Amino acid sequence: MAETISLPDTKDRSAMHAALLPQVQGLLADETDAVAAMANLTAAIAQAFRFHWVGFYRVVNDELVLGPFQGPVACTRIQSGRGVCGTAWAEDRTVIVPDVDLFPGHIACSVLSRSEVVVPLHDAHGRVAAVLDVDSSVLNDLGPVDAAGLEALCRLIEPLL
Ligand code: SME
Repeated sequence: MAETISLPDTKDRSAMHAALLPQVQGLLADETDAVAAMANLTAAIAQAFRFHWVGFYRVVNDELVLGPFQGPVACTRIQSGRGVCGTAWAEDRTVIVPDVDLFPGHIACSVLSRSEVVVPLHDAHGRVAAVLDVDSSVLNDLGPVDAAGLEALCRLIEPLL
């Protein structure tokens, strides 16, 4: 199992995601526990990109409940349709927010979050079972390239849900 994440010396997010994906595949190979896999995935993403906050919310009893994460303490529970996470869950789509101040209803767990991406993950029945929330302290930092890279990483977790 890989114990460290190493990325090429570049700011090209596409190249960084391409380098990260096979390392995470190796990191998660043979793991059968979703929470363990989520925990290491958040660490890998945080280590690779130094984002402000990287974490999962799991769907539990009809609300999102905080799961494994890296970063400052965060909101514990989020209702369907609320904020970026609740929107990604309710609408079952990846939501990219280049400027959180322009997203109506954004939940400001941290005033340092300026842009974010939230990706829904599905269980075997195709239902949203969790979301991955990635927050950057830099405005316009997260966009479609990161969304695609994060979606590919989330696909590695879905068989465990
Ligand atoms: N920003 C999220 C809330 C979760 S925290 O940022 C960790 C949202 O609006 O859904």
